[in-house]
Amino acid sequence: MKVLVIGGGGREHALVWKIAQSPLVDKVFCAPGNPGIAQQAECIPLKVDDLEGLLAFAKKEAIDLTVVGPELPLTLGIVNLFRKEGLTIFGPEQQAAQIEGSKNFSKSLMAKYGIPTAEFAAFSDYDQAVAYVRSKGAPIVVKADGLAAGKGVYVAQTEVEALEALKEIMLDDAFGEAGTQVVVEEFLKGEEASFFAFTDGRNILPLVSSQDHKQVFDGDQGPNTGGMGAYSPAPVVTPDLYEETIRQVIEPTIRGMAAEGCPYSGILFAGLMIDNGKLKVLEFNARFGDPEAQPLLMRMKSDIVPVFMACAQGRLEQQALEWHDKAAVCVVMASGGYPGSYEKGFEISGLDEAAEIDDLMVFHAGTQLKDGRVCNSGGRVLGVTGLGTTIAEAIEKAYSGVHTINWQDVRYRTDIGQKALRKP
Ligand code: AMP
Ligand code: GLY
Repeated sequence: MKVLVIGGGGREHALVWKIAQSPLVDKVFCAPGNPGIAQQAECIPLKVDDLEGLLAFAKKEAIDLTVVGPELPLTLGIVNLFRKEGLTIFGPEQQAAQIEGSKNFSKSLMAKYGIPTAEFAAFSDYDQAVAYVRSKGAPIVVKADGLAAGKGVYVAQTEVEALEALKEIMLDDAFGEAGTQVVVEEFLKGEEASFFAFTDGRNILPLVSSQDHKQVFDGDQGPNTGGMGAYSPAPVVTPDLYEETIRQVIEPTIRGMAAEGCPYSGILFAGLMIDNGKLKVLEFNARFGDPEAQPLLMRMKSDIVPVFMACAQGRLEQQALEWHDKAAVCVVMASGGYPGSYEKGFEISGLDEAAEIDDLMVFHAGTQLKDGRVCNSGGRVLGVTGLGTTIAEAIEKAYSGVHTINWQDVRYRTDIGQKALRKP
């Protein structure tokens, strides 16, 4: 088989690494990929939103399976386009990808199908949104409706902050089209977890639990990022909560999407808030999490390719997943300044030494070759992921890799996974 992976971050490196191990696969391509991915796949210089270019490539190469990493091509309708041409592609169609592409869509779906979530209201009128915020008071959460590259969510501790957020989104058009509607919702406290399930639109196949670390600094301080690290399993997701998530969230969502006329296939990502043993959904995403994909895929024992094919072809009931009885921890090494501005082009040292360490993978995200040398080129640069018999051992393994690697102004959290150790 020939497989095409779309994307070029740490998540896609983990996907390519896993897919390349399948005995079914002869060749992996990745568009656009990165220098780490180039070790396992042929990288094709096509952007993730160049739908026509990707389609032409897939047809020319007779690609047997395409796997989409990021949300943008999904919301642009890449799955519809490929399927119309008879190509097999893993991911939701455009209408179904709204579950991530529109907060109002996903909140309304949750309300209609009784899926536990924060109380909310949606507005396209600024004055009405202001009146609602005033009536509710703070803390309160303001979200741009559409895709905003992870920046459209304001967790406002005061009414003034919430009103400022409404102004930025609705009057100053900080997110353009994505901000023509806002969702204002109840502030939820608790601990977050990430829950993933494969689905073909009818059947579901849940993954093991995981958690990421969104804030940039140790102790969950500072601004939110795409994720500074992740681990699996996440003890906050007890066996009871795991079952409840399937019954109360994943199953009704998949049934609801089918009932709405937009059956969802691919991987469904529920961002959960867990407080006192009760769960609520913060958001849905239409893709694998990044960095959650790195620890999850390192723990996965089964061949992932038959699962992708079964999701895409509507026969997931024939599949099961096996997992390594190990924990995995991914520490993101980022450019100094991230999630704000940062300098690029510093040479990264220690990659060859890190590659020698057993049970450790260095997944590339924002890297680039400059005169044959690997340099930082994005905010999140590497996802250093270790396996261990326990979370404590996996933490030690991941940081042994981190301490081997260096570049100017590198930044990483030193407490990834510690939350899991504090659990009884
Ligand atoms: P979202 O993109 O909706 O997941 O929001 C991004 C982040 O904002 C989440 O991971 C949470 O950390 C935070 N957040 C979102 N909604 C809420 C909420 N209702 N209460 C508290 N924090 C939230
Ligand atoms: N790590 C969270 C996300 O991928 O959205």
